[in-house]
Amino acid sequence: MSITYDLIFRGGTIVNQDGRHRADIGTKDGRIAAIGDLSQADAADTIDVKGLHILPGVIDTQVHLREPGNEHKEDLETGGHAAVMGGVTTVFEMPNTKPPTTDPDALADKVKRARHRMQCDFAFYGGATTENIDILPELERQPGCCGIKVFMGSSTGTLLVEKDEDVLRVLKTIKRRAAFHSEDEFRLRERRELALLGHVDTHPVWRDAEAAYMCTQRLLRLAREAGKRIHVLHISTAGEIPLLALHKDVATVEVTPQHLTLAAPECYEALGTFAQMNPPIRGHEHRDGLWNGLRAGIVDVIGTDHAPHTREEKEQTYPKSPSGMPGVQTMVPVMLNHVHEGRLTLERFVDLTSAGPQRVFGISCKGRIAVGYDADLTIVDLGAEREITDDWIVSKCGWTPYNGMKVKGWPIGTVIRGHRVMWEDELLGDARGEPVQFMETLPHHV
Ligand code: DOR
Repeated sequence: MSITYDLIFRGGTIVNQDGRHRADIGTKDGRIAAIGDLSQADAADTIDVKGLHILPGVIDTQVHLREPGNEHKEDLETGGHAAVMGGVTTVFEMPNTKPPTTDPDALADKVKRARHRMQCDFAFYGGATTENIDILPELERQPGCCGIKVFMGSSTGTLLVEKDEDVLRVLKTIKRRAAFHSEDEFRLRERRELALLGHVDTHPVWRDAEAAYMCTQRLLRLAREAGKRIHVLHISTAGEIPLLALHKDVATVEVTPQHLTLAAPECYEALGTFAQMNPPIRGHEHRDGLWNGLRAGIVDVIGTDHAPHTREEKEQTYPKSPSGMPGVQTMVPVMLNHVHEGRLTLERFVDLTSAGPQRVFGISCKGRIAVGYDADLTIVDLGAEREITDDWIVSKCGWTPYNGMKVKGWPIGTVIRGHRVMWEDELLGDARGEPVQFMETLPHHV
């Protein structure tokens, strides 16, 4: 007897990191059950996706959703809404909330708050401090934890582990790959007065390329000494690319869409403090260097560092203005526009947002379109010409650095574990977000 699918997507072009082909997709019980010619098959529902490209669900491995503690900027519900409106099916959320996610109770609390309140699937980072190193092994193995995050340079919030000896203790204590904010805190402190009142263009002067390079160099040495894997978040300098290329056995690398799209001085002239983030947006030579690293395969993932702050907060005089900009909703259209303009292939985009995250974090059953995997799909129209505007943004902050940008390529549908969650800019159905499972910490049932 032939299987009846829950849903069939008919006539689309399926894209994995290694190529594309025309085929139908049948889903059953939240999983991909068949790929091929399903023209004779039965299904409870059929969606015609002719002319559209079906990508594996886009995974954003760096977002800040501000709950608990700063829900006036964002919360898990609005952040999840922003993700699915932008075609993102899964997010990994950062620990610099209030309180920070530095113990098992705080992480379990986030999982509980997120379950069936977020539209997308999720995982949370545990935060390292100099005080909680002993409990990191427990924290990193908790359900819903994607690993440990270490701030080696201070940014938004209180988390910081700046000394070599403490970073080494963290690395020696944990088992999974940890993720690092790599700016040298000692150099940032020495140069603090170079951040000039009212002059946001001095942000990359204060937090200069050398601060990032020095820290990444230290981090690589420490990772090697501990014999541990590291993930270096939001690389912002051309110089770090050849350095990281020498250490691909231990280091994986993230860049953000904003470091690939914006550049100084124009971004500060156009956006002022709304372009302020850590590590900073730098000059064209750095942006070019990041693209070279991406093309050379040195970059493993694109994460957005979605870091919403309200307009009022961002409008404060620099350096009182907080660092960070939203990005989870705009990643797919901004990067598809780069595909349209020939800077990367659609397959490489998939590699950076699905297969890459799967490989770096050891995600179970997500990251590719394959039978047996979760039916997480990002369905895009490569021909759609649209304008990104503030009023499309559903994140609580209500603004985007890309306001007014014309793009070609748009997310049409977001499908999570076989449920259509967003279709043509409309949210459909209830929030069903679940914690992601990881191969290193699979639950065992007795
Ligand atoms: O600009 C940033 N903002 N960089 C970070 O590392 C943190 C983030 C935030 O949480 O606002």
